Amino acid sequence: MRFLATIGALAIVLGIGCAVFFFGGFYSVAATAEDPAAVTWALTRVRTASIDRHADDSPPASFGDAAMVQAGAQAYASYGCSHCHGAPGVKWLKLSEGLHPDPPNLKEVAGDLSPAQLFWVIKNGINMTGMPSFEQAGARDDEIWSIAAFVKKLPSVSDADYKTWTASVEPKQAQ
Ligand code: HEC
Repeated sequence: MRFLATIGALAIVLGIGCAVFFFGGFYSVAATAEDPAAVTWALTRVRTASIDRHADDSPPASFGDAAMVQAGAQAYASYGCSHCHGAPGVKWLKLSEGLHPDPPNLKEVAGDLSPAQLFWVIKNGINMTGMPSFEQAGARDDEIWSIAAFVKKLPSVSDADYKTWTASVEPKQAQ
């Protein structure tokens, strides 16, 4: 009994301690605050598991066609992915270096994510990070599939191809 009472008392003290720490403003929400390794590990696992479980749409038959990849490059440029992630021959904007977590180089993650996973991430975004939901930003599903096809091909897209494909692209603006 005594043992259980001690555990109960400790749980209450811990609960009060957490409430004071978080609601009392002691926790820093600064983007400059370093995450402990365990937090980074847990957040990465949560993200990967969540994407794995949710991404279950099948890509269209034309996935990966040259025309689709080019349309994807244009949508990628017009929706501003390059501002945060960069693109072949295009540097990301300086502001993206202030994001925490920082946007990955998509050339490096293209091989790790399936077409369905890319589609899901681009459509829904990643909550509480800088990664926007492009469905909310007005992109149609066929545009999102084309962007996913382009991202898959990123490792082999040359700077010159990207430049030619996106030469006449205007950035999307709110209406
Ligand atoms: C405002 C900045 C910003 C823009 C614009 C942006 N992203 Fe992201 N993106 C991020 C950040 C930050 C992350 C990392 C989130 C994390 O670590 O959990 C991310 C993550 C991703 C990932 C997941 C990588 C992984 O390993 O799971 C993909 C794929 C991605 N972005 C694609 C895109 C595409 C395609 C576009 C354009 C349609 C885009 N992003 C636009 C900031 C951005």
